Amino acid sequence: MSEPFDAVDVIVAKRDGHRLTGPQIDWVLDAYTRGVVADEQMSALAMAILLNGMDRDEIARWTAAMIASGERLDFSGLSRRTADKHSTGGVGDKITLPLAPLVASFGVAVPQLSGRGLGHTGGTLDKLESIPGWRAALSNAEMMAQLESVGAVICQAGSGLAPADRKLYALRDVTGTVEAIPLIASSIMSKKIAEGTGSLVLDVKVGSGAFMKDLDRARELARTMVELGTDAGVHTVALLTDMSVPLGLTAGNALEVRESVEVLAGGGPADVVELTVALAREMLDAAGRPDADPAKALADGSAMDTWRAMIAAQGGDVDAVLPVAREHEVVVAERDGVVRTLDAYAVGVAAWRLGAGRARKEDPVQAGAGVELHVRPGDPVRAGQPILTLHTDTPERFERARAALTGGIVVETGTAAAPGPLVLDRIAV
Ligand code: URA
Repeated sequence: MSEPFDAVDVIVAKRDGHRLTGPQIDWVLDAYTRGVVADEQMSALAMAILLNGMDRDEIARWTAAMIASGERLDFSGLSRRTADKHSTGGVGDKITLPLAPLVASFGVAVPQLSGRGLGHTGGTLDKLESIPGWRAALSNAEMMAQLESVGAVICQAGSGLAPADRKLYALRDVTGTVEAIPLIASSIMSKKIAEGTGSLVLDVKVGSGAFMKDLDRARELARTMVELGTDAGVHTVALLTDMSVPLGLTAGNALEVRESVEVLAGGGPADVVELTVALAREMLDAAGRPDADPAKALADGSAMDTWRAMIAAQGGDVDAVLPVAREHEVVVAERDGVVRTLDAYAVGVAAWRLGAGRARKEDPVQAGAGVELHVRPGDPVRAGQPILTLHTDTPERFERARAALTGGIVVETGTAAAPGPLVLDRIAV
């Protein structure tokens, strides 16, 4: 079959700063998925996009072409309205775990198609798999049935959604082109739009533990995604939230499940509660329940029944004791003072090296491994007081985890301080 375009012409057009036409975009993504455009050609195009950008119409067309490469789910047959949330990923970000059952407890359907962790950020599926028996892979029919009966599903995204993105993301990962805002926005939004949710709340993380380190770029990413969602008919709002410090007091799979259950029982760290409630309010508003009071439902434990039903429906034993790592080591304050820095990236890498995360997609993770925080920035400490506990099944990992924390914990003289704001901005059209 003769091809309507030549890959080199498309690359050269973007390299020279021109707009790509709609037919060029449709073709290049389709031809790449078919293997007609080679990896080295797509790498060059991705780099040209990173350097020269794309305008709103180009990004929308690129996203539509990625959606067209695969299947679309359809939740219109459900009796409940749907609301979804996506986080760009951070350290200790367990918010999906309490949030999905919390929002579902108000009669809204929450389909959370999630992934596994790679690098220093954890994956929601890895966390839930620390619950004995819990199963991540559901068929579309099982997912629909659970959304109707329980309201909340957290499961693995099937390979049928936006397959062009799967191939392109793997290529970007090894060609230094992950950071291009048009490519990040279209990658995330193609999967979310293909998933068929009626509304979407984006949690765009900013800071050392996020892949957007500065506020202006995070704002641009958020705005691009909100425009893409809105143009596709999905009610989309973004919160920009701080990721310079880990969320809550745990980073690691079973440790984070335990903390999430504390939050659902009415306790847990204040920042996890605050962000869960802020995102729940946005989702409930978008799904037509502005009257709902998610703060009260967390405080009185009333979302716990939905959590139990959600875990049990996927084979999880909600009453099982969660795995605990075989070994632990405590990191203590070296001097009296106030904790000024507890760097999210340093803690994320330490948790990863302890076995909570993986270096390659096929690696196993340790359910009990991770980092427990005993203090937060702004807290006063005395020399010798525990700051962190490191958990692992394999004690030879402690040394590299401690190395990751070098410079990440700063204690200085001064007075105790209140934490800075967690929600930094809200972007809607
Ligand atoms: N997550 C995605 O799904 N895609 C990106 O490009 C970045 C983060």
